[in-house]
Parts: sequence; structure tokens; C-alpha cells
Amino acid sequence: MLPRITATRFVTPLREGGSLPGVVEASDDGTYVVKFRGAGQGLKVLVAEVIVGELARRLGIRVPDMAVIDMPTAIARYEADEEVQDLLNASPGTNLAVDFLPGSFGYDGSRPPSAEEAADIMWLDAFTANVDRTWSNPNLLVWHRQVWAIDHGAAIFFHHSWPSRGADAGRFAGQPFDLSEHVLRDVAGDLSAAHERAVAVLTPEVIAEVVGLVPDEWLEAAPGLDDPDAVRTAYVDHLVRRLENAPAWWEAVS
Ligand SMILES: Nc1ncnc2c1ncn2[C@@H]1O[C@H](COP(=O)(O)OP(=O)(O)O)[C@@H](O)[C@H]1O
Ligand SMILES: [Mg+2]
Repeated sequence: MLPRITATRFVTPLREGGSLPGVVEASDDGTYVVKFRGAGQGLKVLVAEVIVGELARRLGIRVPDMAVIDMPTAIARYEADEEVQDLLNASPGTNLAVDFLPGSFGYDGSRPPSAEEAADIMWLDAFTANVDRTWSNPNLLVWHRQVWAIDHGAAIFFHHSWPSRGADAGRFAGQPFDLSEHVLRDVAGDLSAAHERAVAVLTPEVIAEVVGLVPDEWLEAAPGLDDPDAVRTAYVDHLVRRLENAPAWWEAVS
């Protein structure tokens, strides 16, 4: 399970990205970046953050620790900024907390990761169809001289079509992915070695364990997916099928 904490103070919004995350202090005396359930695309973004961030962690990619954070409604009352107040009011209950990396800066190429780390990150992004890792939007932070991956909310986009089209693991399994604009393209080492490393780590059991970290209340029902267990099974199926079907999307890019 991800740790469960409670917000005690809203510190400041972060306006660099699109979704207006906020820096928040919490009951464990930690400071976190909170991704709100009431932002733009809602709960599915939080689900993608957990699944893809935790897959990254298992691949040895540095990602900040995550927790499930309860946002008490009273916190919105002390917030002067109207846009932030609206977002807080739209986000009662559980949200996603990402450990705040103080003093980190956005990746600018001045401290590239090792060739192996870069290849692992490219592999993850191809596997999960993460379009948000380009020079215009690197979503990599440099902290203590190391590269950390953040912001995986746009990945595994297949779930956005579940309400209208239903789940179809076969469709995602074969979907090609274009890595030509990837921010680490020029520093990545052997991509086929990255694939071998990933396949060895991401067994169906590990994928199921990662999907198991998502709180039940974030797993929205859809046609054919009536309860959280069914939704969980659909995520596992999509990821396992895509991994089995790697030649369809991987050989083209590696
Ligand atoms: N864990 C973190 N520690 C420090 N700064 C962060 C962290 N997560 C995000 N940020 C900062 O906030 C910005 C927006 O966060 P991000 O997760 O990319 O959300 P989005 O792009 O969806 O708005 C990042 O570009 C980065 O500058
Ligand atoms: Mg971002």
C-alpha cells in the first residue's frame, strides 16, 4: 500500500506545468507536491502517476516517493487565490502526494543521466506511451546531481477511452510509439539492453503488485468494468499484453 497522510497546510501552487499541482505540508511533517483529483482530466491522471511511477521505480529509475493524501475541506478556506480555491474545493478526499525535492531544477541537459539510465527511461516511456518527455516538456528534475523522473499522468492513455469504447488490451498492445522527440534520445545507450533488463523485472506478478497500489476509490467503473477489481485486472491485462507484444512497438524504435 502507499502511505496515507493528511494535508495540514497548502503552501503554494506550482504553475510551470499544465495541471496546477500544489506544494503542501502534511501530517508526517513531510512536504509534498500534490496532484489534485479535481484537476483537468481527473482521477485517471492520478492512476497513471501511480502505475507508471511505480513501474519506473521497479526498473531502477529514480522517482520521488508517493503517498495518498487526504485534503480536508477546511484547507481551501485559508486560500486567497481563487483558482487554487476552486481546485481545492473540487478535490475533497484523497489525492496524490509526491515527495517534494527541494532545490531541484528542471532538466536542461547540463547533467545528463548515464547512458543506461537514459535508455531505461526511454524504454519506460515507449512501453507506457508517455508523450510527456520532450525538450519542450522534459518532466525530469535534477536533484543532488541525479536525474529524477516526474509527471507520468499522460501515460497509459488507453484508459481515457474506456467509458466510451470499453477496455481492449489488444489495441494498446500493438500501438507504435514515436521516440524521435524524446529528451534523452541523444544520451541513451543500448536500447535493446534496456528492453532485456525491463522484461526480466516486469513479471506479471510485479505488474499486478504495482497496479495493486492504486487506491480502490480512484478506479472508476466503465462499461464491462463494474468494480475496482475489474478495473485493476484491465490495467494488468493491458500492460502484460503490451509487454508480450513488444516486437510490435519496440523493434520499430530500438
Ligand atoms: N517532486 C517534486 N519536487 C519538486 N518540484 C516538483 C516536483 N514535482 C513537480 N515539481 C515541479 O512542478 C512542476 C509541475 O509538476 P508536474 O508533475 O510536471 O505537473 P504538470 O506538468 O502536470 O503540471 C514541474 O515541472 C516541477 O517544476
Ligand atoms: Mg509536467
